[in-house]
Amino acid sequence: MPTNWKGFWIISGLKTGKLPAHSPFVIFGKNSFPFVKSRGTPQMNTRLCGALTALIMLTTSSFSSFADSSNRASVDRGRYLVHIAGCNDCHTAGYGASGGNIPQSEWLKGDIVGWRGPWGTTYAPNLRLSLSALTEGQWVTFARHLSSRPPMPWFNLNAMTEEDLQSIYRFIKQLQPLGDPAPTYVPPGVEPNTPYVLFPATPEGSQSAHVFTTGGNTSQ
Ligand code: HEC
Repeated sequence: MPTNWKGFWIISGLKTGKLPAHSPFVIFGKNSFPFVKSRGTPQMNTRLCGALTALIMLTTSSFSSFADSSNRASVDRGRYLVHIAGCNDCHTAGYGASGGNIPQSEWLKGDIVGWRGPWGTTYAPNLRLSLSALTEGQWVTFARHLSSRPPMPWFNLNAMTEEDLQSIYRFIKQLQPLGDPAPTYVPPGVEPNTPYVLFPATPEGSQSAHVFTTGGNTSQ
């Protein structure tokens, strides 16, 4: 223990409930902190004041950096991430066809246009509904471990930072109304009863088949 740093003693004294016998100050019980009374020399008092100021500054700065980091996970940033990460391209009906000109009130409600390929036919779900069933922590875990069928770029979601995922959650979570569920997955060989985009069944090993079999792992 650094015996020359009085500030440290304040903390360790509170933690252990006692202070070293030669301590230059007295603390009136746990509840009275920070009412610390000095019984030291004027020189010791100056040093004690310095240590207390440093301690307060240290505490304030770590609180403010905590606040900064929780502010970074914000609704606005979530909106920005959803926008530039392309989530609307599939999860918002008509988004691509309109050149991205769909109001936010319609964002991420899912789409009835299917994506048909060797995997069957998938539908981009209504993310407002998907997230409504999850807490923020559950969403982060879910997104980090998601592995789904094409063309969902789940590997991009896996790679997002916790803060970015929290921001996306906060943005989606405040979108209202929740809307209706997208159609459910249709297995291969079954004709979907919705419009769909058809991916050609390419010969194995060809470029476009490769796109959907590597799960984003394109390192050679
Ligand atoms: C190219 C189209 C496409 C893009 C772009 C896309 N998704 Fe998806 N997403 C899908 C499809 C299709 C599914 C359903 C996959 C399945 O059925 O296995 C899906 C599924 C999901 C799921 C699982 C939901 C559930 O309830 O199981 C989440 C979460 C998700 N997407 C989030 C996102 C986010 C966030 C983005 C933007 C970063 C995004 N997606 C971008 C097409 C897309």
